[in-house]
Amino acid sequence: MTVTNDPTRQAVPSGPLVEEDREHHRFRVHRSTMTSPDIFALEIERVFGHSWLYVGHESEIREPGDFVRRPVGNRQVFMIRSKKTGQVNVFHNSCTHRGAMVCRQDKGNAKVFSCFYHAWSFNTDGELVGVPDRDAYGHGLDFSKLGLRPVARVESYRGFVFASFDPEIVDLVEYLADAREYLDLVVDSMDEPEIIKGTNQYAINANWKLLAENSIDGYHAVSTHDTYFKYLVALGTDLAGGVAGTAKSLGNGHAVLEYAAPWGRPVAKWEPLFGEGAREEIARLREDLVARHGAERAGRMADTNRNLLIYPNLVINDIMAITVRTFMPVSADRMEVTAWEMAPRDELPQLRQRRLDSFLTFLGPGGFATPDDIEALESCQQGFHSGGVEWNDISRGMARDPLANDEEQMRAFWRRWNEQMIGAMR
Ligand code: FES
Ligand SMILES: [Fe+2]
Repeated sequence: MTVTNDPTRQAVPSGPLVEEDREHHRFRVHRSTMTSPDIFALEIERVFGHSWLYVGHESEIREPGDFVRRPVGNRQVFMIRSKKTGQVNVFHNSCTHRGAMVCRQDKGNAKVFSCFYHAWSFNTDGELVGVPDRDAYGHGLDFSKLGLRPVARVESYRGFVFASFDPEIVDLVEYLADAREYLDLVVDSMDEPEIIKGTNQYAINANWKLLAENSIDGYHAVSTHDTYFKYLVALGTDLAGGVAGTAKSLGNGHAVLEYAAPWGRPVAKWEPLFGEGAREEIARLREDLVARHGAERAGRMADTNRNLLIYPNLVINDIMAITVRTFMPVSADRMEVTAWEMAPRDELPQLRQRRLDSFLTFLGPGGFATPDDIEALESCQQGFHSGGVEWNDISRGMARDPLANDEEQMRAFWRRWNEQMIGAMR
């Protein structure tokens, strides 16, 4: 279903878009933030133009010349490992001659990119190395200045490569703030993490911020994913204890849910679904973790789930499998989602198989979770267009230390969003 040119589309209010009243424990967000094309255009500039945005993982471009092409913040870029230096470059995907995209495949390995329009060619460091009939230009052009344009800032944290279009943005480490601790927990739980080949791609007819909210929303799990929980119980998973945990704001709009895992985790918590054959191997993985990180940190890695949102649009779900997911706004009413699976590089085939099964069963686009979530998000988007109700309520848990099924993590996201869009809240 598509929602366009809706006459009920709410006008942007002249007052605030996000309202917080700490004294009375009220937090609300104006629904025009989800439907207004004007707000959408503004957030591409103010949010996506001034944040660190996830591009990809270094393991996706292991060899010199390896590249991946993907849109970042609504712009076409590609990431490539230099043949000269081995470093990771991220370029605007636009020929310096007259604009065509020079990288035309989603991934591959290349020595040079030859533009298909007039065949100017560029090496893996972006230098212009070939111009047909160069003599036709006389001496007027300085070809050394016509290399591909790198994105203003590129930094990587523990293999996760981010880019920013804002040359003045703070360093990535500072930007990540307390989210680093949670990225570290994910990375340290594996010998050598890698993105497994293969990508999930799908589109949702809903505003991109709905998926930011949904990805860290503990409140919806039991109601929306009822079928999955029943399926787990039928297979022997003990869900009697419920899902206990906390929600935290991690600074700069990042947030996390951390909660005890009622289900098995390939790193390193066995459950009946994994089969008796895997029991010993998972016990060994756990011993390894304890030896490397001590009992407490190893326990946290093995037994707790993390749903981590790195503002504005990267989600790492470290649950019954590890998903890395990013979503791009296409319009106020539509987003495109890309998800990858992360795993230890040297994982035993049977454990890898189990991990992939878990991934597809719950998180994959045909699994138990994703179609339910898409249905919920598209339903919200249509609900917004029905008009009559101006505000979304996001107050849950404001009167207590927030639990995993409260909404503090969403408030963290919205506070930062509001700060970028409008300025710090009064
Ligand atoms: S636009 Fe690329 S060579 Fe002309
Ligand atoms: Fe969900």
